[in-house]
Amino acid sequence: MDRIFSGIQPTGTPHLGNYLGAIQNWARLQEQSSSVLYSIMDMHSLTMPKEPAVLRRNILDTTAAILACGIDPKKCFLFRQSLVPEHAELAWILGCLTNVPRLLRLPQWKMKCTSQNNEGTVGLLTYPVLQAADILLYNGQLSEYGTILACGNISFDRLKVYRLWSTHVPVGEDQVVHLELAQDIAQHFNKKYGEFFPVPKAILSTTKKIKSLRDPAVKMSKSDPQKLATVSVADSPDEIVLKFRKAVTDFTSEVTYDPVSRPGVSNLVSIHAAITGLSIKEVLHQSAGLDTARYKMVVAESVIQKFAPIRNEIKKLQEDKSHLIKVLEDGAEKAKELAAPIYQEIRRLVGFQ
Ligand code: TYM
Repeated sequence: MDRIFSGIQPTGTPHLGNYLGAIQNWARLQEQSSSVLYSIMDMHSLTMPKEPAVLRRNILDTTAAILACGIDPKKCFLFRQSLVPEHAELAWILGCLTNVPRLLRLPQWKMKCTSQNNEGTVGLLTYPVLQAADILLYNGQLSEYGTILACGNISFDRLKVYRLWSTHVPVGEDQVVHLELAQDIAQHFNKKYGEFFPVPKAILSTTKKIKSLRDPAVKMSKSDPQKLATVSVADSPDEIVLKFRKAVTDFTSEVTYDPVSRPGVSNLVSIHAAITGLSIKEVLHQSAGLDTARYKMVVAESVIQKFAPIRNEIKKLQEDKSHLIKVLEDGAEKAKELAAPIYQEIRRLVGFQ
């Protein structure tokens, strides 16, 4: 049985990359599976320095934004990671199966340590193991006893049946290396303790990576120091217009799609296609004859149209903090219930029980 699991760090309001790379897919997938979990990853947030009051506010702002983007707690369990401590406990077990050089090779470790002149903490190095635990905690093969009617005789028999929960993880391209680590750890665990974890799978959206509007060589990121590089789902129409007007393209005025030689304008075409649901070909057809300056405004307008209702909904939801807290707590209760039989079996397999 397929289970959907994904998460986001609480950095306040998500950006266009989060929305197109992940959240839009989350909304689609909650309609397709009856076992869907989305988590606000507050423990991951501690890997970079944060004031407690800022983290507290960001958790609720991110929750409001996720709900405003169409994630419906009646169709999925939306919860705060630290309310389910089994994530951290399983991370410890999995950390004992993961070698340090494998973690040192991961791009995010190298990037965050060097670019931010950071010596690096144990948490920053091992957070991909916590991410593997996030995923594998809901992913396992459980056996239970069912009852069958024996053939011929009217007698009841006990039959061992297996229920396989296999986690599918909708993420943007930057998280694929972390998913590969989770796959490796799952296989390593299976070799040591016996087949238990199905190998989790990534689900990528068609827009795997949205680039910075100021530097199309890098991904759009909340931590980008250039304010104009990142569009938030809560930006006002004026802010969106300004950011797209200043988007870096090149000296050719025609609108074409060639991510290698024209990364800037191709990023705009990708955004336009993903936000309108049109194909790249359809978008190019519609934009024939426009120069890049006018095209930037067409893309800005499509983003404004999409984000206007989300922005209004975020404002409404932010006014009712107790509702947001309750959504996260209720979700955590359900997540714990789903995790319990899997975690119990893991404890038994490693010898804790
Ligand atoms: P985070 O919070 O950085 O991003 C959340 C989701 O948004 C996607 N994303 C992007 N997609 C396309 N273009 C971009 N520019 C872009 N920027 C971000 C990310 O790929 C992600 O899907 N470590 C994770 C959170 C996490 C998690 C997990 C995810 C913790 N445990 C378990 C899945 C499963 C992170 O920091 O995502």
